[in-house]
Amino acid sequence: MSLTTERTFIAIKPDGVQRGLIGPIITRFEQRGFKLIAIKLVTPGKEHLEKHYADLAGKPFFPGLIEYMNSGPICAMIWEGREVVKTGRILLGATNPLASAPGTIRGDYAIDVGRNVCHGSDAVESAEKEIALWFQESEITSYKASQFDWVY
Ligand code: PPS
Repeated sequence: MSLTTERTFIAIKPDGVQRGLIGPIITRFEQRGFKLIAIKLVTPGKEHLEKHYADLAGKPFFPGLIEYMNSGPICAMIWEGREVVKTGRILLGATNPLASAPGTIRGDYAIDVGRNVCHGSDAVESAEKEIALWFQESEITSYKASQFDWVY
């Protein structure tokens, strides 16, 4: 069994931080078997958030999305593991929490698309871009978590 070093960018949004959901969200990724390799609390400002959501600049909800994301600290993380981008999105649930299955993060903790608790990269390429936007190389760690090759 070979390990990949696929990485995804996961951000607990201001509502998730304010509601005390950092611990529960981290637990879900850890218990699934993924490895946390970078984490910080940041309030990066509008310019940074506009870069992060640049693809959505034309959407009617864009100004509200930036305001919401700028309303408090964000817990920015990088998680590593096999197919972590796709599986991370499954752990998060659908973008609209009302369409998220119970057992997912949004399905258990949210009801409003404009307060949906957590962000996860939607593809390997966007994960790479988002990681480069949010983290310096020196903030990312690397370690062997287990003697077993099926545990990261
Ligand atoms: S879209 O319209 O299909 O491009 O949007 P989608 O890919 O579903 O979502 C992209 C991000 O926009 C957020 N979003 C919203 N925020 C506030 N209000 C409304 N109505 C809204 N609709 C979508 C959504 O949560 C996604 O953000 P991230 O951070 O990726 O979860």
